Amino acid sequence: MRTSISTLLKLYQNGEKFTVLTCYDAIFSRLLEACGVDVLLVGDSLGNVVQGEDTTLPVTLDHMIYHTRCVARGAEKAFIMTDMPFGTAQLSPERAFENACQIMAAGAQMVKIEGGHIMTDTTQFLTQRGIPVCAHIGLTPQSIHQLGGYKIQGNTEITANRLIDEAKVLEKSGAAMLLMELVPAPLAKQITATVSIPTIGIGAGADCTAQVLVLYDMLGLYQGNKAKFIKDFMVESSNIQDAVRNYVKAVKTGQFPDKIHEF
Ligand code: KIV
Repeated sequence: MRTSISTLLKLYQNGEKFTVLTCYDAIFSRLLEACGVDVLLVGDSLGNVVQGEDTTLPVTLDHMIYHTRCVARGAEKAFIMTDMPFGTAQLSPERAFENACQIMAAGAQMVKIEGGHIMTDTTQFLTQRGIPVCAHIGLTPQSIHQLGGYKIQGNTEITANRLIDEAKVLEKSGAAMLLMELVPAPLAKQITATVSIPTIGIGAGADCTAQVLVLYDMLGLYQGNKAKFIKDFMVESSNIQDAVRNYVKAVKTGQFPDKIHEF
């Protein structure tokens, strides 16, 4: 039986952590769920790692639909979450709904939308119409040109308070999960304690409900400088399956991320 949003919420209510990895194709989708990964994120990071682009901005709705179908065909059990790519959620709640419907029809069980306050109306519009939303705050790669680089967010009192407020309003708007990227660990901990929905961290410390990494990063296939929050699980594993199982175990037992991976 496929993992549902209720299964994940039950884990959260029982104080159990769950695991997320990005996934873009059927082979990995089958492998990751067989190794115990709870959620497969069809991330628009596919622009970087599959398509070789510098940013996620060139990724289109059709790309996300195509990769969601590939992942959905490979997995029988895992929960599938798909990113709404750049420009498909921003124009209006109505347009976002039309686009999200296509992603859901391709096999996603939840869409992820980057953005804080500006996305509250859209989050409400979608969730009231049956589309579960994971809000994504902190470093939002689709806004990279406005943010001026891949850097830590919420590291001043003003920006930290803004993130706390965004988390609260997005929850109130109906978001069922909250992803935080590149946020200081103490702030992510505070936000996790403040909201009553699961939080998913990437570069946000160990106190989030769940953790996510880009699959190719945790398999040591990253390009260029390794970001501080990435752990290469292949180093201590004999094959890909072992590395994924070790990631699942490390997240569930709270061993990943440790202090060297947080800000
Ligand atoms: O697109 C993606 O892979 C993501 C993760 C980095 C969280 O959004």
